[in-house]
Amino acid sequence: VKGLAVIVLAAGLGTRMKSSTAKVLHQIAGRPMLLHTLGNALALKPEKTVAVVGHQAEKVIGLLPEGVTAAIQKEQLGTAHAASAGLKKLGGFTGALLLCSGDTPLLGADTFRRLVQAHQKAGADVSVLTAHLADPAGYGRIIRGGDGSVQRIVEHKDATAAERAVHEINTGTYCFKASALKRALKEVRTENSQGEFYLTDVVAITKKRGGTVLGVTTDRPEEALGINSRVDLANAEKTVRRRVNERHMRSGVTIIDPDATYIDAGVMIGADTVIHPGNHITGETVIGSGVALFPGNFILDSTLKDGAVVKGYSVIESSCVDEGAQIGPFSHLRPGSRVGAAARVGNFVELKKALLAEGVKASHLSYLGDTVIGRDVNIGAGTITCNYDGFNKYQTIIEDGVFVGSDTQFIAPVRVGRGSVVAAGTTVTKDVPADALAISRSPQVNREGWARKNRQEKAKGKKA
Ligand code: UD1
Ligand code: CA
Repeated sequence: VKGLAVIVLAAGLGTRMKSSTAKVLHQIAGRPMLLHTLGNALALKPEKTVAVVGHQAEKVIGLLPEGVTAAIQKEQLGTAHAASAGLKKLGGFTGALLLCSGDTPLLGADTFRRLVQAHQKAGADVSVLTAHLADPAGYGRIIRGGDGSVQRIVEHKDATAAERAVHEINTGTYCFKASALKRALKEVRTENSQGEFYLTDVVAITKKRGGTVLGVTTDRPEEALGINSRVDLANAEKTVRRRVNERHMRSGVTIIDPDATYIDAGVMIGADTVIHPGNHITGETVIGSGVALFPGNFILDSTLKDGAVVKGYSVIESSCVDEGAQIGPFSHLRPGSRVGAAARVGNFVELKKALLAEGVKASHLSYLGDTVIGRDVNIGAGTITCNYDGFNKYQTIIEDGVFVGSDTQFIAPVRVGRGSVVAAGTTVTKDVPADALAISRSPQVNREGWARKNRQEKAKGKKA
């Protein structure tokens, strides 16, 4: 929108969160609360955007998207005081000013747009976004006059019983003529139950000065939720998660039980992927098409390419699973791992910084860390890379086509040449040449009749 500026208020600690973390940093669907509001406001393409920050300012500033200016409100003296701090960063700006709260993350870009359009169409000085709520407790109430126009806003704590009976609330989102806001802010005082500078007073002040105040009621009251406590946070999480899941389903992803599927806002998923209940897909994970996620996986900041299958109860962190590879059940891919196309990583296999080429099979009970494994290598059950001597980590390199028998240990650093065989039970302490057999088993001895004799002796001993 041309001639539009945005201010987002985000300086408060959020006392009712009972947290050492500033309220706007608490996450919803894996994304700090503030970024939900900022993202929706930025969708309107404002000319200038300011975030008013205070509590844990450095951390908050650290996550501001490009093009958003921070205004520091050192002491949090109220929402009007915060608005003044924001205005200072806008210099001589004279257009329409959308002001929103960093703690109402559900209000969408469409709703912001509707407010701005109504404001501009009416040529109002102040437009306030309102909502009708079944339970208005805690919110500021919209007090309208006999003619239906908005007269003032009264905070819940300052409201009379009659005012508290009003179900129309202030969402904390406004559109101002910048000049009108500037003028009105000068008259805001702190005579209220909280001793704060209330931005809401701007409504009555503008009215008194003969200005025009518009109330714009949203037809999506469920978006109005302000996050003040952890209970509100969980409710918002539920709403955002439902929206995220619906977006994926509309673009062709099957989610068998959306109520039991947890996908962060930043995740991408291709069509014809099927997601079973109990999957947590988090961070900046990218999932291709035709992927199957069986129940109960936790996936963080990872890439799963087309046709990959995760058989369930697996943890995948900062790793990549290539086309058609199969993971799980009960696998753990720790950061920096890559499972090549059509490779298999099975039950109770843990990878860490392990690069498995195409077609590798590590199907059971293994630890593969700091290792590079070539094409079509077979890793037998119980294989362990001994990568750590208590001080440093070392690499195991296994070249293409190697067959590793069960219960093998690789004492790193060590290299196993292409096409070689490592016999079951071997402890590999030195490099293996290509096409060789490595075996470190001690030769087997069979003592004929030993067990029978032992039994008989033991039985005699018992009687005596
Ligand atoms: C505010 C409104 C209330 C509205 C509700 C909607 C006022 C006085 N009241 O109440 O009418 O129904 O939002 O959710 O405005 N902030 C600052 N600096 C400050 C104070 C607050 O940046 O000095 C920020 C907070 O971080 C928060 C936002 O402003 O993001 C709202 O503040 P909060 O204290 O949550 O206001 P409410 O009591 O919820
Ligand atoms: Ca609030």
